[in-house]
Amino acid sequence: MKKVYLETFGCQMNVSDSERIATQLEIDGFQIIPNENSADVVLLNTCSIREKAEHKLYTRIGQICNTADKKPFIGVLGCVAQLEGETLFKGNPAIDFVVGTKAVGRISEAVERVLDGGKKFADLRDRDADYNWTVSTSQRHSPFVGFVPIIEGCNKFCTYCIVPFSRGREKSLTAAEIIRQVQVLKIQGIREVHLIGQNVNSYRPMSEEGLEGFYGATPFSRLLRAVAATGIERIKFNTSFPRDFHTDIIKAIEENENLCNWVHLPVQSGSNDVLKIMRRGHSIESYMEKVDKIKSSDRKISLTTDIIVGFPTETEENFAETLEMAQYCHFDSAFVFKYSPRFGTPAFEMHDTISKQIKTERFLVLEKVLRKSQQIALQDQLNKTFKVLAERISSKNNREMTGHTTCHKIVNFKGADVLLGDIVNVKITECKKNSLYGEVC
Ligand code: 5AD
Ligand code: SF4
Repeated sequence: MKKVYLETFGCQMNVSDSERIATQLEIDGFQIIPNENSADVVLLNTCSIREKAEHKLYTRIGQICNTADKKPFIGVLGCVAQLEGETLFKGNPAIDFVVGTKAVGRISEAVERVLDGGKKFADLRDRDADYNWTVSTSQRHSPFVGFVPIIEGCNKFCTYCIVPFSRGREKSLTAAEIIRQVQVLKIQGIREVHLIGQNVNSYRPMSEEGLEGFYGATPFSRLLRAVAATGIERIKFNTSFPRDFHTDIIKAIEENENLCNWVHLPVQSGSNDVLKIMRRGHSIESYMEKVDKIKSSDRKISLTTDIIVGFPTETEENFAETLEMAQYCHFDSAFVFKYSPRFGTPAFEMHDTISKQIKTERFLVLEKVLRKSQQIALQDQLNKTFKVLAERISSKNNREMTGHTTCHKIVNFKGADVLLGDIVNVKITECKKNSLYGEVC
């Protein structure tokens, strides 16, 4: 049995792709192993959202070549693979094959080809029509949390972003297939599903198959109601695109207990000038209006976001508007990124006008503001009791467990009598920097 080691970088879509890649390899008789040491083949599922991720890939290949018992065949998968194709062979001679983001269904063919001593090759072709979206229980990233892709690719072409090039155009899966997958996951003991995609709320399937009988202002809110009707315990969805965020989503959450009270809504900037050059398609006023509606819901919906600092042309005034916006929105948590130019995107042509030092300064100033609102949001949970899914033993203390609330806050708790996969009531006793601590009650 040939041994394959698969390592994943980047977003939840890559994690989800890796689950299906490993499933396919297992079905076709390969053994998936937990590290590279004795691997015949190493697969690296890559991310290209920022420059550093590519450097990380090359560093990792160097390590693998140094530490493995004998040099394994190395396959590069994911976004870097799709963007760079055969040029990767020139960049790093240790790479033996390249498999693009849509070609993952042919992974076994690719692995067999290199094992048979074939020449270096790249498969960047489209998905086969009969691509299998299911994941075997043994290859899930969690036995209790399941990722279900509902839309792939992106049509938005924000000027800084490489995703529309690495993942192609938006394509929605049929609601019937999504619902079928959720039903299977439920039977298999999955307690929480995440409906995933670059922009889940831009969901637009070719037909209404599976959505019949479900009302809603958009196909996405109809899908949310349809998935809620499966009765699976928790449903989260990620990521939402502000322009397509219809307030009917909030209504759907209010109507269905199992639709979780968490919205991830990347704003990117607080300045209308910058948003325009980013071509985000929303103004800061329209974003804040949506935030007001999310915050006014009785479901106490937590709000998280992504923000880029140092985008070309961003002035001190523009940045001050971002700080103001962050103070207004009181995000439960936020990811801040320093702008990183990506070759092939329109922003790359604008030149990276903001110095490294200014980017770092803005990053730190914004982080401080965001930390404050994150702390307030965490402290607000003190002495309250939440339902927490016991997802795994804590990596820091094996007598503690870790999991998430419905609003996606991390909670650590003493877990002596708790079984993994249980949803337990935890009373919050302490706030840490990024998480909560509590006791089962
Ligand atoms: N530079 C910095 N951050 C970026 N993101 C996407 N592209 C870039 C880039 N070129 C960030 C955005 C997005 C998140 C996933 O990554 O904030 O929401
Ligand atoms: Fe990138 Fe914009 Fe698409 Fe998000 S919406 S993946 S930021 S192009």
